[in-house]
Amino acid sequence: FARQVLAGLRVLITAGPTQESIDPVRYISNHSSGKMGFALASAAAEAGAQVTLIAGPVHLPTPARVKRVDVKSAREMLKACEAAMPCDVLIAAAAVADYHPQTAAKQKLKKNPQNPNGLRLQLVCNPDILATLAQRKDRPFCVGFAAETEHLLEHATSKLRDKNLDLIVANDVKRSDIGFNSDDNAVTLIDRQGQQTRLDKARKSEIARQLMGLIASHLPSPING
Ligand code: PMT
Repeated sequence: FARQVLAGLRVLITAGPTQESIDPVRYISNHSSGKMGFALASAAAEAGAQVTLIAGPVHLPTPARVKRVDVKSAREMLKACEAAMPCDVLIAAAAVADYHPQTAAKQKLKKNPQNPNGLRLQLVCNPDILATLAQRKDRPFCVGFAAETEHLLEHATSKLRDKNLDLIVANDVKRSDIGFNSDDNAVTLIDRQGQQTRLDKARKSEIARQLMGLIASHLPSPING
């Protein structure tokens, strides 16, 4: 029985990939399945929180007692997050595209026989959703994820600082048995003091439950009741 460690708190969670349009038929995306974010939403609801889950395109059922908002692009995801503010805790598990094609063509791009050299796309930056929300005056307690393929803890620690986060969950996405699209994960939670807590490989549902307890124990006193 999960203790109601987040009773009455408003928790906003982002999950899944984003899709950045090239034309009406093609888009840029990534391998995120949304499983980690959906497990976090389920665990937060079990822990008594009022959960809003903002999801990129995924093939997952909505966890019980969770309010779900579906989006496609990073820009739509930011808008949906801002509409869900204020909240007490933000957990950004979504794999948000850093760039989108400068122009999404209105019609399907045709193969250009005169230009056998292929298709050149000009990509421009997307907003950093987590960093944007963490800069707000009414900023929530911010938990980020770091998806790294090398120097995992160093990169995660600099993201914690650069994005003004309270906690960051580091996971190695080079491994095929954890991270993207797997049922299991293995993570290291890092706090502002540099304290590291390793959660060994387990089902994402179990990792999510352990993370809820760890997040609750880091909340500043006024909001954890
Ligand atoms: O969805 P699954 O298949 O279960 O896989 C889970 C996961 C690997 C996607 C997840 O555990 C994970 O690591 N999510 C974060 C992926 C990611 O984009 O990490 P990042 O290091 O590129 O981004 C750092 C943080 O900034 C993340 O919290 C991300 O949500 C956020 N971000 C990044 C870019 C951006 N434009 N806006 C953001 O909010």
